[in-house]
Amino acid sequence: MHLTFARSGRSPFVLFFLFLLVDCSTAFRITGAPGGFGSNGERPLRYEIHDFANPGPAFDLYILALRDFQLLNQTDPLSYFQIAGIHGFPRVSWDGVAGSGGYPGFCMHASTPFPTWHRPYLALYEQLIWQHAQNIARTYPDDQREQYVNASVTLRHPYWDWAVHPALPDVVAEPRITVNTPIGWRTMDNPLYQYVFQSNAAGNGFPLSDPMANFSRTVRWWDQTTKSSNQSAATAALLANAASIQSLVYQMFTALTDYTAFSCTWPGGQQNTGNNIETIHNSIHNSIGGYGHMQFPEVAGFDPVFYLHHANVDRLFAMWQALYPDSYMEPTVNAYGSYYEPVGFVDTAATALAPFHSDDGSTMFTSHDVRSTATFGYSYPELPDWELNPDQLAAHVRAIVNSLYGPSTNSTVRRASEEIKSRSTNIADSFGNISLDLARHLNVNNLNTQWSITVLVDRFPLDTSFSIDFFMGDAPHEVSQWPTAANLIGTYAQFNPANVTLFHPNGFPEGQVRGEIPMTHTLAVGVSRGVLRDLSPQSVVPLLQKALTWKVRTPAGEEVPVTALSGLSLSVSTRPVVPRTARNRFPQYGAVQWLDSVTEGKPCGAGRAH
Ligand SMILES: *[C@@H]1O[C@H](CO)[C@@H](O)[C@H](O)[C@H]1NC(C)=O
Ligand SMILES: *[C@@H]1O[C@H](CO)[C@@H](O)[C@H](O)[C@H]1NC(C)=O
Ligand SMILES: *[C@@H]1O[C@H](CO)[C@@H](O)[C@H](O)[C@H]1NC(C)=O
Ligand SMILES: *[C@@H]1O[C@H](CO)[C@@H](O)[C@H](O)[C@H]1NC(C)=O
Ligand SMILES: *[C@@H]1O[C@H](CO)[C@@H](O)[C@H](O)[C@H]1NC(C)=O
Ligand SMILES: *[C@@H]1O[C@H](CO)[C@@H](O)[C@H](O)[C@H]1NC(C)=O
Ligand SMILES: *[C@@H]1O[C@H](CO)[C@@H](O)[C@H](O)[C@H]1NC(C)=O
Repeated sequence: MHLTFARSGRSPFVLFFLFLLVDCSTAFRITGAPGGFGSNGERPLRYEIHDFANPGPAFDLYILALRDFQLLNQTDPLSYFQIAGIHGFPRVSWDGVAGSGGYPGFCMHASTPFPTWHRPYLALYEQLIWQHAQNIARTYPDDQREQYVNASVTLRHPYWDWAVHPALPDVVAEPRITVNTPIGWRTMDNPLYQYVFQSNAAGNGFPLSDPMANFSRTVRWWDQTTKSSNQSAATAALLANAASIQSLVYQMFTALTDYTAFSCTWPGGQQNTGNNIETIHNSIHNSIGGYGHMQFPEVAGFDPVFYLHHANVDRLFAMWQALYPDSYMEPTVNAYGSYYEPVGFVDTAATALAPFHSDDGSTMFTSHDVRSTATFGYSYPELPDWELNPDQLAAHVRAIVNSLYGPSTNSTVRRASEEIKSRSTNIADSFGNISLDLARHLNVNNLNTQWSITVLVDRFPLDTSFSIDFFMGDAPHEVSQWPTAANLIGTYAQFNPANVTLFHPNGFPEGQVRGEIPMTHTLAVGVSRGVLRDLSPQSVVPLLQKALTWKVRTPAGEEVPVTALSGLSLSVSTRPVVPRTARNRFPQYGAVQWLDSVTEGKPCGAGRAH
């Protein structure tokens, strides 16, 4: 394989010369991991990290392959550094494909190719891990070699289902790790814990003034005072949002039947209360990163947990596709652009997913090409598409979605006592501390009423990223306690660069994004604790008028006035639900009713989402 790279900033003559070279040289053909297929179309599975991270050849090979990958010299086009850099920094070409747009990377966000762009990206990463694993497996001693070679062939990248396991997995949070290597059991630096840069900001090609440029390694919840990461802060933030995230994932599957609504935060074609896969994904980036690489798109790809997170996003996408196989990408305007696509470009299923080549020439994958995971030779445990017809597969996925994300018990939400407790009860205590177990026990995702907050806001209202935390009752005094407050309802997280001004010195692109924060879990807990009569508007509206509050913070932990978020409008809605009656059926949702009076008169409160 021979690659030629055109860096931006060269003279037109040099660029032209490189262009000629690219044309007659060989592009890197992305196939996904190319082995382990069965004779009936069976493909190896990407496993959940908690099932995958057990002692054994597949896990050993994955860790050792990832380590070798990270140690490749960053000048190598197939190094971890350069692959991670496709997503954001450094803003240079990859595999002969150059960009010129304002956004820091090739990645597609807030536009309908968001799910499809990340599919070949993950396949490329998986393919390179797989190649490293082939070489490592052959070096095991005779008595182990065949077992390791076999495992290397079916090796696929694991995913982390944060909607069921809302804690940073131990295998990601521990600095050291022990695996069986070709020379015996060894304890080594854990390549899932962090990536160590080989150069400084200038050598990496990062803009020196960017707040994330000078870190020598990836960090999570960086504490400016102690100068260290706080991995347990990530778990605390994930737990505080767990019930909210699980409701969003369940409704993403059960209520979103149209690709445009499902795919991203772009508000066009809005036909629901703001839920979409990108909002959910943004929230996880925010919870893992804190002030750290996962929080910011220009550097997120360097944290190795990115690929566990995005394998899950891809899995949710593939499961959604099995449910709604006829809905796919319609032409939509990319209001914000990427490094490759200019602002205003119309994305269709035939648009190139740059810089990913489908052959060794100049052809790039399109969303149409990547519609099936079979294109890249993998599947997920929920999707044995080679043994089920499309109807059977959809029914199979519905049953799994119900049991994983809408788990049911025989209890119903019932008041703890006949007497509504005194209104002097502390609101924050009465509606707080909601674990996933409690939400499951209360059947939160299969009740006959739902409540949500809808967020509409400008894509770039500030010069950095931000989050909006919603509380029942008052927010804690300290900003640092907001993300994990016991009375947090949920967090809306924008996934913006650490310094927006740096990329848009002449003003930020206009346009809005949307998201949803479910509230049913909070209200159902109030009913079960006897402090709210029921989930009807008559009971809920007066409570929310009094008790629903929200605050805005930056990733660095600074409060921002709510009114500083241009274009922000917050609306509350409810809708009736006919709960599901069979394990492979979904609930039926009634019409959305906007309850203008809940937020009107409060900062950025709007009657309805428009
Ligand atoms: C990577 O390769 C470059 C160019 O060959 C060399 O100057 C540099 O020292 C290498 N870096 C490492 C970490 O080996
Ligand atoms: C490796 O795979 C081959 C072919 O599927 C099989 O015959 C063999 O038993 C496997 N060996 C081990 C040690 O699992
Ligand atoms: C990063 O380091 C460089 C070189 O020391 C310095 O010029 C720059 O101001 C630093 N950037 C930040 C954001 O601190
Ligand atoms: C880390 O974060 C957790 C959860 O937010 C917090 O309780 C703990 O005090 C933090 N540790 C340090 C050393 O700051
Ligand atoms: C719910 O109740 C039905 C009938 O009473 C029973 O068969 C079933 O096992 C119960 N399910 C759970 C999860 O308790
Ligand atoms: C919530 O949990 C915290 C910490 O476990 C505890 O201090 C507090 O009393 C709990 N509040 C309620 C209302 O259960
Ligand atoms: C963002 O970048 C601009 C332009 O380079 C610079 O003036 C500003 O200080 C930066 N802000 C932050 C928060 O780094």
